Amino acid sequence: MSSASQRYIPIRINDGCSDDLDDVMEVMRHSFDPAYGEGWSRSQCAGILPLSGVVLAVARDQHDMVRGFSLQRTIAGESELLLLAVHHDVQRSGIGSQLLDHFVATSRARGAARLHLEVRDGNPATAMYQAYGFSPAGRRTNYYRGHDGGVYDAITMALDAD
Ligand SMILES: CC(C)(COP(=O)(O)OP(=O)(O)OC[C@H]1O[C@@H](n2cnc3c(N)ncnc32)[C@H](O)[C@@H]1OP(=O)(O)O)[C@@H](O)C(=O)NCCC(=O)NCCS
Repeated sequence: MSSASQRYIPIRINDGCSDDLDDVMEVMRHSFDPAYGEGWSRSQCAGILPLSGVVLAVARDQHDMVRGFSLQRTIAGESELLLLAVHHDVQRSGIGSQLLDHFVATSRARGAARLHLEVRDGNPATAMYQAYGFSPAGRRTNYYRGHDGGVYDAITMALDAD
């Protein structure tokens, strides 16, 4: 497969809101493999949006189509990346990296000193987080439950924001 720099797709990232949930759920369906239970339901997303410190970031292409999104919560000097996903058709085009940049920048701007995320053990996204500087911080055993009943550990990762 070609590298992200070879397939780079220009996007713009803006804050999203509940009006974007149809588009967000479309990306959710076409990114996370249901076998692993990492994706969220629409009601989970809608429920967290009004909470303090939560930011939905939506990445649109030049045709205004939502191609990726991230969801984060920054509170009391800590920021957590809750979700990050890119539509399957445009993965490995640099969109995930730009959303990760946006997460880090937004967290810093909101005063976070330490950034956290969790990723399924074995998810290829781990390579992207490690390349960015996130380090493994712990393991949550049997954290994800897939549609077929399989259970999978989560690896927690962290990065100092400064
Ligand atoms: C993880 C995800 C968001 C990455 O988005 P993306 O737009 O494809 O990422 P990028 O194109 O910016 O990739 C940046 C780098 O990350 C690494 N990477 C990303 N996806 C990878 C994969 N499937 N396998 C191996 N390395 C990968 C590569 O080093 C890549 O650089 P390269 O393409 O030059 O080799 C996307 O694959 C996705 O939506 N996956 C399903 C949902 C998911 O698992 N989200 C993470 C939950 S914690």
